[in-house]
Amino acid sequence: NEDWIAAIAAAEVPEDDVTAVQVAGHDIAFYKTEGQYYATDNICTHGQARLCDGFLYGHEIECPLHQGRFDIRDGRPLCAPASAPIKAYAVKVENGQVLVNLS
Ligand code: FES
Repeated sequence: NEDWIAAIAAAEVPEDDVTAVQVAGHDIAFYKTEGQYYATDNICTHGQARLCDGFLYGHEIECPLHQGRFDIRDGRPLCAPASAPIKAYAVKVENGQVLVNLS
């Protein structure tokens, strides 16, 4: 499914950090690390914390509430108490915009 949505200006995604915006009613976190963009669900699967309030270490986002970690490339949980994956989404940059595919 080629369902790309322009979500955020590329310049608004901080380098080696995370921000979040609403995309089609979903709370989506956007990351930039080593010049690459990534997107995942912004809500932790362990609780109701927003990952955009956490810290990014390389490709690992640390939840601000209990310090569970996820790999932003595929959403897999990396340490307790995170055990269920977050969804990771395909992104691409076109004309200065980050597009995300939520399908
Ligand atoms: Fe994220 Fe608990 S809410 S680790």
